[in-house]
Amino acid sequence: MIKIKTLGDLRLEGATVLCRVDFNVPLDGTTITDDTRIRAALPTIQHLRDAGARVILMSHLGRPRGQRVAKLSMLPVAAHLAGLLDAEVVFAHDTVGDGVAELVRELPDKGVLVLENLRFDPREKSGNDDFARALASLATCYVNDAFGAMHRKHASITGVPKHLPSAAGLLVQAELESLSKLLSKTDRPFGAILGGAKVSDKIGVIDSLSKRVNHLFVGGAMAYTFLAAKGEDVGASRVEDDKLDLANELLATCAERGVEVHLPIDHIVADRFAEDAEPSTHEAIPEGTMGLDVGPKTVAAWSEEFRTCKTLFWNGPLGVFEWDAFAGGTRSVAEVLASGKAWTLVGGGDSAAAVAKFGLGERMDHISTGGGASLEYLENGSLVGLNALRRKSR
Ligand code: 3PG
Repeated sequence: MIKIKTLGDLRLEGATVLCRVDFNVPLDGTTITDDTRIRAALPTIQHLRDAGARVILMSHLGRPRGQRVAKLSMLPVAAHLAGLLDAEVVFAHDTVGDGVAELVRELPDKGVLVLENLRFDPREKSGNDDFARALASLATCYVNDAFGAMHRKHASITGVPKHLPSAAGLLVQAELESLSKLLSKTDRPFGAILGGAKVSDKIGVIDSLSKRVNHLFVGGAMAYTFLAAKGEDVGASRVEDDKLDLANELLATCAERGVEVHLPIDHIVADRFAEDAEPSTHEAIPEGTMGLDVGPKTVAAWSEEFRTCKTLFWNGPLGVFEWDAFAGGTRSVAEVLASGKAWTLVGGGDSAAAVAKFGLGERMDHISTGGGASLEYLENGSLVGLNALRRKSR
């Protein structure tokens, strides 16, 4: 594991800390529908305040493409945070400039200020150094607790730490501790459950996991590309035709490395991709229908294997879990993982959302707040945002 600077490396008393958080939360209008990521940053925010620092929080929200988009303002997030902290939270309608600097000067000891959405400024995503300097000029030190965004080479992630004493926050440390259990000294047998739509999104992680796992379970739309590659008839299921060779190569690599690959053996199918489509269960997918979830025999067979595993990693839903008729496979697997004995880490993104939807979050050993970030960390053993916090070897 790479050695990074932590909060103990910073002088916090009387400091003004610029803290990058990942408050990229789902919104329904101005209502936050899942505040997990905000809650996950609270220990760091409280630690900084208790140590006598003033805290400037900055985050992105959605993908506004470098423009002000009213519905992606951080204002509702700041209001929600004030409720969670039970303290006043000041909101800056900008990210840099004299007005923001003035708000920082007026901030009382232990005060909290939330900046507007970083991605309203195109310089955030392009990693512009002037923007990074302007952000850095607001504070005396920098903390990155935005695990979910640490794979992005953006100004607030890799630029600011060039200009201020920097460290990782408590959430980042906790995430790394958990993920490191999958990278070395992993308790075996070790199984990875991968779902989601595209093989192309998971190539790197399948290749790197295949060096470490004993079992690989593949569900979601991705499974149909693998089944088609093996020559099975998948009806009208979603298949990435240009990835069939790649799927075969990945299967061959797994075989060479002694990894047992488990594909679905039955399916919940429908004749169209629609929430109100009629579901039915089949081992062989009937012509003109598409697989939208794994079936009960698959869940039963996989569950037997899960019970033999000591460590499990899960990323990606196994069916269209947002629609009740096609959520059963994802729900059943989540329930088996929640009640099983294996140490279980759920990668962020959709699988974390699914676990939250089924109310099983408390029963998993670790749910990462980063989807893309946790996959990239497993793939490469590092992230650009972590490298920016690297402790220099003496
Ligand atoms: C996420 O939701 O995975 C992170 O906040 C990163 O967001 P991004 O994929 O828009 O960079």
